[in-house]
Amino acid sequence: MLSVVTLIDVARVLAVANQKGGVAKTTSVASLGAALCELGRRVLLVDLDPQACLTFSMGLDPDALELSLHDVLLGRLPAGIVIRRTSDGADLLPATIELAGCEAILLSRTGREHALRLALDEVAAEYDFVLVDCPPSLGVLTINGLTAADEVVIPLQCETLSHRGVGQLLDTVADVQRLTNPRLRVRGVLPTLFDGRTAHSRAVVLDVASRYDVTILEPPIVRSVRFAEAPGLGRSILTTAGRSKGAEAYRAHGRAIAGVAGPPVGEATARRVPAGGGAEEASGAGGAGAAAGGASGAGGASGTGGGPGRETGGGQPRPGGRVSARPPAQAVGPDAAVSGAAV
Ligand SMILES: Nc1ncnc2c1ncn2[C@@H]1O[C@H](COP(=O)(O)OP(=O)(O)O)[C@@H](O)[C@H]1O
Ligand SMILES: [Mg+2]
Repeated sequence: MLSVVTLIDVARVLAVANQKGGVAKTTSVASLGAALCELGRRVLLVDLDPQACLTFSMGLDPDALELSLHDVLLGRLPAGIVIRRTSDGADLLPATIELAGCEAILLSRTGREHALRLALDEVAAEYDFVLVDCPPSLGVLTINGLTAADEVVIPLQCETLSHRGVGQLLDTVADVQRLTNPRLRVRGVLPTLFDGRTAHSRAVVLDVASRYDVTILEPPIVRSVRFAEAPGLGRSILTTAGRSKGAEAYRAHGRAIAGVAGPPVGEATARRVPAGGGAEEASGAGGAGAAAGGASGAGGASGTGGGPGRETGGGQPRPGGRVSARPPAQAVGPDAAVSGAAV
């Protein structure tokens, strides 16, 4: 007898993680979120860092918030009540400094690694993507982020010794895959604060590519003073400097994540570099590196163009904890990802 199965689209969850601070995790979450919103995708950002920089960057004052992710992770409130709308188009599960205490409380609880995953399960059907901004540690909060995620993106600041952090994080990812989340996969390393004018940034990326079996996501995110302005305005760089190279780079990665076709030349390509394999510099300004003999995928091989971004009220609580007035959702599941492609 033929059984009818109803498929419910649930959000694809991407964790942005690196235990080092200042590598552009928060910037990447805010910018990728804005890029996905521009494509008409329904996006939830999760601030998993007690420093609450993402919350601040999205235009909310963490010190003035009464409800936060803290209450959600401890099972006191459903996520839907805490989620806020932001001016950039994404919804936000905000953090406050209380999250630091939450870490200690969670440690004494059974199933502590699954608190975020369980909370997100309740709202997953309302979004196409959930982007999780992890704190600069490999503690229980980051493990929660990785346990809830389908994929992890690792921002890499292109400086000496950066590779060490990548190795430690990949070990943690392997532990999570083994113990709490077998479906987790590493989407790749995203070179950030990249200075294409010197050989050093490229050398760091090539070093990482030769040490670990990871995808290097392209284009790299160039270092630019334009990034400094955005958080203070409560908006992402896609709004404050929308035509800048950094904004365009995050748009290219947003298209690759969403599986949307983009400009054909030189954008959002990725090279997989076999461990120990040689690599040579990518062509084009600012290219992070290309692998000899590695598989590659052009960003945006499938999918269709998205609709307009959503209208939102800046920092307003979501009415009734539900999302409304969205453009038609375009189902984007894990399988819609560009194969072997960028972020
Ligand atoms: N591409 C960039 N160019 C210049 N400054 C950047 C860039 N990306 C991020 N920044 C700045 O670097 C600092 C650290 O970025 P942030 O995203 O907060 O890192 P993390 O979340 O990893 O600690 C912030 O002041 C941010 O504005
Ligand atoms: Mg941060």
